[in-house]
Amino acid sequence: MIEVIANILTQATHEADPKVTIPEDPKLGHYTTNLAFVFAKNREITPQEAAKDIREDIITTAPKGFFDHIDIAGPGFLNMYLSKETLAKELSSILKLGPKYGSSKEGKGKTVIVDYSAPNIAKPMSVGHLRSTVIGAAVMNLLKFQGYKVIGDNHLGDWGTQFGSLLYAYKHWADQEEFKRKPIDHLVSLYIRFHKESHDNEELMVAAREETAKLQRGDKENTRLWKIFVKESLREFKKIYRRLGVDFDVELGESFYQPMLEGVVQDAISKGIARHDEGAVKIFFENEKFPPTVIEKSDGSHLYATTDLATIKYRMAKWKPVKILYAVANEQALHLAQVFEAARMLDYAPDTELTHVKFGMMLGESGKKFSTRKGEFIKLDDLLERAKEAASEINPDSAERVGIGSVKYYDLSHYRLSDITFDWDLMLNLKGNSAPYLQYTYSRLKNIRKKAKGLKPKIDIGLLGGESEIRAVDALVHFPDAARYAAEKYEPNHLADYLFRTANVLNSFYENSPIISAEKNVAEARLAVAMAGVEVIKSGLTILGIETVERM
Ligand code: ARG
Repeated sequence: MIEVIANILTQATHEADPKVTIPEDPKLGHYTTNLAFVFAKNREITPQEAAKDIREDIITTAPKGFFDHIDIAGPGFLNMYLSKETLAKELSSILKLGPKYGSSKEGKGKTVIVDYSAPNIAKPMSVGHLRSTVIGAAVMNLLKFQGYKVIGDNHLGDWGTQFGSLLYAYKHWADQEEFKRKPIDHLVSLYIRFHKESHDNEELMVAAREETAKLQRGDKENTRLWKIFVKESLREFKKIYRRLGVDFDVELGESFYQPMLEGVVQDAISKGIARHDEGAVKIFFENEKFPPTVIEKSDGSHLYATTDLATIKYRMAKWKPVKILYAVANEQALHLAQVFEAARMLDYAPDTELTHVKFGMMLGESGKKFSTRKGEFIKLDDLLERAKEAASEINPDSAERVGIGSVKYYDLSHYRLSDITFDWDLMLNLKGNSAPYLQYTYSRLKNIRKKAKGLKPKIDIGLLGGESEIRAVDALVHFPDAARYAAEKYEPNHLADYLFRTANVLNSFYENSPIISAEKNVAEARLAVAMAGVEVIKSGLTILGIETVERM
C-alpha cells in the first residue's frame, strides 16, 4: 500500500520520491508524509501553508473515496487516513488472495542469487552456518514475494587447506570402525587432534601442506578420500537441512571453481589491477581503500578471494542476476568488501548489486562464542533436538514444528547485525516475541472458524467500529508494507516485528470482540477480521520459514 500512497503523492505534487512512513501510533493515521516541509523550503511559505495546498492536491488526485480524511498535524505533517471503503477492499483482498496478499511484481523478470549456508566439508555445521541458512532462506522468500526469480546457492567450503590436515590425520590416525559409525564426528576429532599435535610440531604442518598440494595436483588417493569426506559431510548436512525445511537450487562448492581460478588471475594481471609482489600475485585497491588481497601464492595455489571472484564471473555468465546477496557472518566483511571492489575493477558485474547481508554471532548460553577447534562446539542436531524437547512441554504433537520454529524465529526477530545469546526461555516463551506465541495466535484464530458453525466471514466495516476491531484492521492492511520494507533492507526482523505487533492486536481483538456470542451480522464481520488475521500470520510465518500448527 505504501507505494500506492507514494504514487498518489507523486502525481499530486510532482515530487519524484516522496517520503511516506507509517506512524507508530495508529491514531496519527495510516500513513504520514513530511512533503510539506520540502515544499515550504522551495517556495518560501510556511510548512502549514504548504500542507494545506498539498492536502487539496492529494484529495483531488486520489481515487474518489480513497482517503477518509487527511490531517495537518504539528508543524506540517500530513497524516493520511484510509477510508472505510479502502480498508474493506484490503480486507477482501486478504481473504481472496490468501498467501498472495501483499506480494508484488516489482522484481518480475529479474534474477537474484542468494549465497547462503555454505558450511565447510569435514567440519560440523556451526551455529554461524545455521544463522546464514535461516537468514538466507528468509531473505530469499522475502524477495520472491516481491516477484524476483531467486536462486539459492549453497557455496560449500569443499576445498582448501583444511583438507591437508585432514588427509594427514586420516591417513595416520583414523579408526575405520569409528569412521564408519560416525564419519563426521570422527573427522572432527581427527581435525582437533591434528591441531593439538601440530601446535608445536612444524613437521606436521609441512606434511599437511604436502597433502593439500597433492590433492590440488589431482593425486588419486587424496582425491578418493576427499570425495568420501565430501559425501559423508553432505549426508550429515542434509539431515539438518531437512529439519530446517531448506532446499537449494544449486550447490556449487568452492572446488567447482578451481579450473577457473587461473583465468581470474590472468584477467586481473591483464587489466593492470594485480601485480607480482613478494612472490605472490596481489590485487591493489585505489587509494589503498582496502589492504591488497592475495589471489595467487608463490607456490601457485589460489585463495578464498580468487574463488569468490571466479564465482561472480560464473554466476554473471550463467544467470545474469541483478543482485547477488551473501548471507555471511560479519567477520568476513573485509574479505567480501575486497571481493566486491575487485569484481568492479575487473568489470565482472558492472550493473549488478553485490551485497553482504551480514550478521552477528550466535553466542552460547554463557554469552561466549561456540568454538570448533577447542572441541567445545554445540552440534546443530543436538541443538535442534533440544529445542524440540523443550517445545514438547507445550505439546508433544507439534514439538518439531514449534521447536524448530522457535530457533528460526529467535534468530530472525533480532536485528541481524547484533550478536544473539541463546536463551531457551525467551525462545519458547508463549507470551513473548517468539514463534510459539505467533503459532498460538494463529491456531487460536483458526479455531474460531471451526467453532463458528453456520457463520460466514462477511466484510462490513460499518459494523467494526470498536477500538480493538479498528486496530486489528489497521494492523492487517500494513502487512504488504512490512514485507516490502523487510525485503528492501534484507532485514527479516521488520517482518517479525510486524507479526508480533499484529499478533498482540489480534489477541486483544479476540478477547474484546467476541464472535460466537455476538449478533449474527456483527459476528460475521468479526469473523472476516479473524480469518484475515489467520491469512496474514500464516503468510508472514511462511516467509520467515516457520510452519504453523493447528493446535498448540
Ligand atoms: N564456507 C565459508 C565459511 O564457512 C562461507 C562461504 C560464504 N560464501 C562465500 N561466497 N564466500 O566461512
